[in-house]
Amino acid sequence: MNEQVAPLPREVSVAVIGAGTMGSGIALVAATAGHSVLIYDGAPGAAEAGCKRQRADLERLVTRGKLTAAECQDRLTRLQPVESLSALAGAGLVIEAIVENLDIKVDVLRKVEELTTPKTILATNTSSLSVTALSSRMDRPGRVVGMHFFNPAPSLPLVEVVSGRLTERPVAETIFATAKAWGKTPVHCASSPGFIVNRVARPFYGEALRLISERAASPATLDAVLRETGGFRMGPFALMDLIGHDVNFAVTRSVYEGMAQDPRYRPSLVQEELVNARLLGRKSGRGFYDYAKDAPQTLPADYAPGPTPAEIVVEGDLGPAAALVGLARDAGIAVIVRKGAGLIRLTTQFWRSPTAGPQLSGQFRTGRRPFCSTSRWTMRRPPVWRSHDPTKLMTPRSRKRPAFSRRSARRFRSSTMPQALS
Ligand SMILES: NC(=O)c1ccc[n+]([C@@H]2O[C@H](COP(=O)([O-])OP(=O)(O)OC[C@H]3O[C@@H](n4cnc5c(N)ncnc54)[C@H](O)[C@@H]3O)[C@@H](O)[C@H]2O)c1
Repeated sequence: MNEQVAPLPREVSVAVIGAGTMGSGIALVAATAGHSVLIYDGAPGAAEAGCKRQRADLERLVTRGKLTAAECQDRLTRLQPVESLSALAGAGLVIEAIVENLDIKVDVLRKVEELTTPKTILATNTSSLSVTALSSRMDRPGRVVGMHFFNPAPSLPLVEVVSGRLTERPVAETIFATAKAWGKTPVHCASSPGFIVNRVARPFYGEALRLISERAASPATLDAVLRETGGFRMGPFALMDLIGHDVNFAVTRSVYEGMAQDPRYRPSLVQEELVNARLLGRKSGRGFYDYAKDAPQTLPADYAPGPTPAEIVVEGDLGPAAALVGLARDAGIAVIVRKGAGLIRLTTQFWRSPTAGPQLSGQFRTGRRPFCSTSRWTMRRPPVWRSHDPTKLMTPRSRKRPAFSRRSARRFRSSTMPQALS
């Protein structure tokens, strides 16, 4: 990072092309930073609609007391929708946020290049396309740079400043400094498929989509698992609905092609079907979830608690799981304490992971119902490993020789899976 390079002065007019999910948010970010911003969209009325959405968001902030009415008005007066590309001629920075398609982006940016001065910086908000490939088809490739905001642009701080092979260093530095002056956290990166975040995020979406293709669990259940136990703010399906399946699918396809069709990034047929059906997520009102006002809430799979055991046996030091003993006592379960290797036995079943520390199998009536299938599933695993002497099961040798044959284990699994994973 070069601290010497100055951000674009506020007097420089900014133009945003594409007034969808990202473009309208980016326009508001620039207007908030003090630039006058023109916003253009190829669909008639879309620029106006984008500004209206931002107005509604700002007014909500005013209602919640997070913004004054004067600040809201100030930002909105700097945001101006326009209906023709030629209106953008005076812009010093043009940020495109249109459809994720290289040919269409090139086509639009070439027109902009003809309209604007040689000093104008052309930034692309592409999530995954090669900035090098895009800039190589322009007359001034050195002035083209990636400025990748995240959704929602007004509130998420990260901006990837993507340099293609032909991007001039001072251009990337100016955009870096400008993003910083706009209150963002920029990071420089080179143009490679998916850049940083979208590359790292591919398996988050891809594996989740594979899981539902395998009927492992419902989208709502997987979202709940990742949100409530994984610490993610949103699960993958809610996030894909927020991003828009057309955009998310196009990004996956572009990363897949960019990575020479590495199977790790293979696009999902489930998502392709959603795109074909125009079930694009929030923006179309339906994706994995239904966003209609009166739509029934989609709940994660849940299990009623099983019968409460009369007693449990606690053997040895449970480590962090020791907190469960108090919960069991509170639930009126008798606790028998013995020496041992650190496990909790239910009277008839137990499960202890060979790799992890002490674990509890089964469910207690503690008021907090488990919402997912995993605890029931682990409780049903013991028949494969059953033995009268649990410690023997922990040895690598006996694990190589399961009590059940492979065929019977397979039969066992297929008989229990549908119930466990409904
Ligand atoms: N949605 C996200 O979460 C997200 C996040 C970061 C980056 N991006 C990237 O931002 C870009 C836009 O994504 P989005 O989610 O805002 O899409 P969007 O579908 O919500 O909006 C795209 C807008 O561009 C307009 N448009 C399409 N072709 C046009 C053209 N030729 N000329 C002028 N306007 C045109 C459309 O009318 C639409 O209003 C994509 O490159 C995407 O990869 C998206």
